[in-house]
Amino acid sequence: MGLDLKALAKKIEKCRLCRLWKSRKKAVPGEGPENAKIMFIGQAPGKQEDATGKPFVGKAGKFLNALLDEIGFDRQKCFITSVVKCFPPKNRPPRADEAMICIKNYLAKQIELVNPKLVVLLGKIAQRYVPDSLLSGRIVLKTAHPAAGMRFPKIRRKMKKDFSLLKKLIKEIS
Ligand code: URA
Repeated sequence: MGLDLKALAKKIEKCRLCRLWKSRKKAVPGEGPENAKIMFIGQAPGKQEDATGKPFVGKAGKFLNALLDEIGFDRQKCFITSVVKCFPPKNRPPRADEAMICIKNYLAKQIELVNPKLVVLLGKIAQRYVPDSLLSGRIVLKTAHPAAGMRFPKIRRKMKKDFSLLKKLIKEIS
């Protein structure tokens, strides 16, 4: 029998397939319902996520929550995770080998299990590494990472536009 999301999360919590286990306090598998229609994929856990084991709970997460509030979408209804599940040292971007190992072993299975209709790729790392093969047959929205939107007004304005498109797409698939 295949794994469910909970069993997969347990595996992630003990994972040592790449070097990032050495820099983590807690792995961050992601959270949300198994039948979520929408999946958000970020880059990697940050400091707050590393401390709590929960995705997008730090400043970038608060900014993401505000964007979702603005379009009237309940975060509990979507599945939220990142390309890699462990905090990279000094918050550096994940490396290609780390991203590929983590996607192949975990994110691919999460996408398969949740089977979302709509996938939001938050930022360049998700857009670079999540392979098209995992996205075929799904609506894909590419937008900036909330950590960038939070800092730069120009990116923030673009993200707001992207989220109003997201609102329409959510209506279409509901
Ligand atoms: N940034 C991410 O990409 N993922 C998180 O979980 C938190 C911040």
